Amino acid sequence: MTVLHAKAFAPASVANVAIGFDILGFSIDALGDTVTAHRSPTPGVRITAIRGTQDDLPLEAAKNTAGRAVIAMVEQLKLDFGIEMEIDKGIPLSSGLGGSAASAVAAVVAVNALLPIPLSKLELLRFAMQGEAVASGSMHADNISPSLFGGLVLTVGIEHPRIKQIPVPQGIRAVIAHPHMYVSTKQARAILSRTVNLSDFVWQTANLAGFISGCYTDDIDMIRESFQDVVIEPQRQLLIPGFQDIRGAAMDAGALGCSISGAGPTMFALCLEADAPSVRQAMVAQFGKQDLGVDDWVIAIRSEGAHVVAV
Ligand code: HSE
Repeated sequence: MTVLHAKAFAPASVANVAIGFDILGFSIDALGDTVTAHRSPTPGVRITAIRGTQDDLPLEAAKNTAGRAVIAMVEQLKLDFGIEMEIDKGIPLSSGLGGSAASAVAAVVAVNALLPIPLSKLELLRFAMQGEAVASGSMHADNISPSLFGGLVLTVGIEHPRIKQIPVPQGIRAVIAHPHMYVSTKQARAILSRTVNLSDFVWQTANLAGFISGCYTDDIDMIRESFQDVVIEPQRQLLIPGFQDIRGAAMDAGALGCSISGAGPTMFALCLEADAPSVRQAMVAQFGKQDLGVDDWVIAIRSEGAHVVAV
């Protein structure tokens, strides 16, 4: 039976996770974008509606992350039908919560449900990455992969990406604090130095290895010791008012670590479940001192990732 309509949800995500710039991310099921795809007899990809945001997002498919991802899919699969899409944004724009990635992921998952023989998520990944490139100006999958697969996800490679879902110790929670302001991902990338000091390189690789091994071995001390970004965070922190105070308050409240979510301005902390309420309160209070309203969540880093919600 031909499927004519499909609606898919894709979660928000925290990219970089402090020590894995452009390669590590985790999903946030508490918010996400939804795309409804309709099979059309008229060839081509069209976006008929974007809801849930007051900001202007391009309806022109080639300039829209969801549209670009589906154009790539239609072209490569040589689909003999057209696609019309409606996008419901649940993720604030330029927030560092992976909104452009989630729209691209929800779009390819919805269109996949219209195919006679659906593709695997790994096959969908590369189409979604092309969509994300429209927004951020470069190909990286650290928001796409967790949004698509769910949980804490490592992506290795660009042309032929390999994915590893990393186990997160049971008792760990992520506190997410989204201040009501914007940071442009393109600008936050443009300010980064093209070179890395050798000792910073050593620390960052040690920290990434320590964090991943701590996750696999349930070693909370190793996670705490290694959860520090010595390369990107020092360069980007000036984009977030009160960054050091917010981070310091989270650490004083018992966080294992605290850093910038993606390109910011959202910040996140990892902590043990028992410390989550005080870490959350500390971060929100510090953002308040900067006269910034905040949306905040405490989540377990566990998720099925993007999925079809209705056909
Ligand atoms: N890894 C990316 C960055 C995520 O930090 O620039 C945002 O696209």
